[in-house]
Amino acid sequence: MGKGKKPQRIGILTAGGDCPGINAAIRGVGKTAIVKYGMEVIGISDGFTGLINKEYVQLTESSLSGILTLGGTILGTSREKPFKNNNKNKKEISKSALITEHYEQLGLDCLVCIGGNGTLKTAYMLAEEGLNVVGIPKTIDNDVWGTDVTFGFDSAVNIATEAIDRLHSTANSHKRIMVIEIMGHNAGWLALYSGIAGGGDVILIPEIPYDENVIKDYLLKRAKENKPYSIVVVAEGIKIPSKEKSPGSYLARRINEMTGLETRETVLGYIQRGGSPSPMDRILASRFGATAANMIADREYGRMVAQKNCEITSVPLKEVAGKTRMVEKNNSLVKRALEMGTCFGN
Ligand code: F6P
Repeated sequence: MGKGKKPQRIGILTAGGDCPGINAAIRGVGKTAIVKYGMEVIGISDGFTGLINKEYVQLTESSLSGILTLGGTILGTSREKPFKNNNKNKKEISKSALITEHYEQLGLDCLVCIGGNGTLKTAYMLAEEGLNVVGIPKTIDNDVWGTDVTFGFDSAVNIATEAIDRLHSTANSHKRIMVIEIMGHNAGWLALYSGIAGGGDVILIPEIPYDENVIKDYLLKRAKENKPYSIVVVAEGIKIPSKEKSPGSYLARRINEMTGLETRETVLGYIQRGGSPSPMDRILASRFGATAANMIADREYGRMVAQKNCEITSVPLKEVAGKTRMVEKNNSLVKRALEMGTCFGN
């Protein structure tokens, strides 16, 4: 779908849950595309919804200035999955067909999809339909296959760690057990990293099945050793009985019932996704964005920008789609924490 010598026209969209660093990535793609290659750049509104409804804005060098440090996404986002329930009503044109039609009508040479697992799967499916697509991985969950890290993760680790730090002093004053529930979807990366950085005594992640009795014995032993308080970091994705609403409140109640120790819970929630990106996320997002523009210039379509062994590279979207990167069985950080006496409930 290239256009010979005519400057390329590209569209950028951001989809799925937002995270710090998205605007830095939009700026990285857009500025490189405009300044280095003279490309024309449009921003699609609200993820795939914008392509279905043909809603977009022109992005210029000046409209991309001043957004590096902004949280959220200037383009808006949505969790629209255009291939879900496709063709249910055969009389209506399907959402994915509308996307292809509008991609052509807008004269796009490539669509840059900035998102997490759901977005990158849709990006792959659109590539299979014949669109030129480049993916950029973003999420606080850090669970995208094919890259060692996603932007958004470092900022979220900072936010969650600061929250855990603050729990220490109040837990100490009241001699309480503090349970904190951390986001991360089905993966435990955010709870693991913030739990270790924040000195969590117990860290529970979906990848390591826990036994409530192990947690009980561990906390009672700490109390017996005159440790006045304990911090329990719980990933939102851990298994809990189906009738329970949240891991944080379930665990806090069970710990109190089992140990008799006064226990409180904190659900950190969307604070973990909001606000300005950390310097490391600004750098990663800028590098990912600029690399995506270089890939488009080189017609390297159907791929996702990635970081592997500290190098920026790219991987086929085909390898990424439909997978989730979980904390591995022999994760070295888990091993070191176990050696220091941290309890993972197993
Ligand atoms: O994927 C990012 C994330 O914040 C997860 O950690 C969380 O489970 C989910 O999004 C929340 O989704 P929503 O924004 O749809 O409530």
